Amino acid sequence: MTDTDTIIAILGATGNLTRTKLMPALFSLYRKGRLPDGLRIVGIARDPLDAQAFRDLMQADIPPEGPEQWAAFSSRIGYVQADVTSGEDLERAWRTIADGSSAVNCLCYLALPPVVYSETITALSQAGMADDHAGASGPSRLDASGPSHQGWRRIVVEKPFGSDGHTAKRLNEHIHSMLREDQVYRVDHYLGKETVQNLLVFRFANSIFEPVWNRNYIDRVEISVDEDVLVGDRGEYYDHAGVLKDMFQSHLLQLLALVAMDPPHAFTADALRNEKVRALSAVRLPSLREIGDHLVIGQYQGYHSEPGVAPGSQTPTYAALRLFIDNWRWQGVPFYLRSGKGMADKNTEMTVSFRSPPHMLFPGDADSNIPGNRLVIRIQPLEGIHLELQSKVPDAGLEMRPVSFDFSYDEDFTGIDIPDAYERLLLDAVAGDASLFTRSDEIELAWSIIDPIVQRLDLPGAPTPYRYLPGMNGPPDVERLLGITVQ
Ligand code: BG6
Repeated sequence: MTDTDTIIAILGATGNLTRTKLMPALFSLYRKGRLPDGLRIVGIARDPLDAQAFRDLMQADIPPEGPEQWAAFSSRIGYVQADVTSGEDLERAWRTIADGSSAVNCLCYLALPPVVYSETITALSQAGMADDHAGASGPSRLDASGPSHQGWRRIVVEKPFGSDGHTAKRLNEHIHSMLREDQVYRVDHYLGKETVQNLLVFRFANSIFEPVWNRNYIDRVEISVDEDVLVGDRGEYYDHAGVLKDMFQSHLLQLLALVAMDPPHAFTADALRNEKVRALSAVRLPSLREIGDHLVIGQYQGYHSEPGVAPGSQTPTYAALRLFIDNWRWQGVPFYLRSGKGMADKNTEMTVSFRSPPHMLFPGDADSNIPGNRLVIRIQPLEGIHLELQSKVPDAGLEMRPVSFDFSYDEDFTGIDIPDAYERLLLDAVAGDASLFTRSDEIELAWSIIDPIVQRLDLPGAPTPYRYLPGMNGPPDVERLLGITVQ
């Protein structure tokens, strides 16, 4: 063990997340030569395994190509059996892992059920695994250039972060009693998606959009996250959460914040997150009286037969919500957020619709407006961006038709695969860059938007879920109620 060694300690390492997401992402980074030398991965869980048995378990979800590379990579993987909620167990595990060195860096990844987050964080602290000596702005040990000769300690916490604003606040307070905020990396994996990061580059590395990115030119914004999957074996968790907590509180509000925020002064974690917080703070909530005009909820037929779902459950598996942002940039522009399970396809996209030209210059039906331009940012699949413009149809007088300018990752970046979100997030957490992780105030703010909406669903007169057939695009009335076009 040397003093520049970094360990990723995965707590709850035998679960799904490690096997299906974390280990494949780490292996892919290794194959691309992006993992720092001296980085080791240690699985920690209760299961009585040795290192080889753990490696074999992890290999099950690794693509079959590159067996020699897997052999080399897996020699960096260790395993320690421990109860992650016990300080004593973790202290023993840490002695084995760190081998007596206090200068080792450690990223503790909580790949655990949220109910044990608090206990595990206490146990990490008791074991000394949260004691960071690198300082608030301590350098990443990867560059080994900083003044500190002590290792850093960071924790990564997965979503859901709390089950409402109250529990999220309590968890933040608990964490802050043991760690500084800059040691905490809260995952929203949508922020690790390539196309979501590109939204920032697209908005702030091109000068043509910012002047029109406001209420003077934009008519409305739609953010849709359609999923073709059903709830499946996640019924027990999902039935308590529903789509508003599972998807809106995190992914959809993060996308909204990125579309709506002002340009940060720098691409640093705090500058970026300050602007997202300002945008989220300006979201106006519909009142109880208005809720039916702003929210449509649905539940797919057959939801009640999913294991873990309560009989007669009214939990929505679909929601479409209209929100407004009360500030100078967005006043009066509706933001339509929509997500559901059991949709026809998996499709995540954001559509920015611009206003129609103010004056009809060309001959035609005097009453008909030329449709405004649309900018569609496709997050997944078929990642890309397209802009619809009006064009004259050749040899047809002044007849017009929308044509589109397309950018597609497939065509413009041939041969470069889009990496899984976890690759970027793991690298950033190791490098100490929290830009793509959510801060405590951001999480609490997102809950403060979703909590009242969820609570209003329990009150008399609140909308009840429409039943829709899986494979359709949700409830049929969304278009009529919210005035959005269901594709
Ligand atoms: C998770 C939700 O955060 O995101 C799941 O808990 C959802 O319910 C998933 O299916 C969607 O992620 P992706 O990357 O497949 O769009």
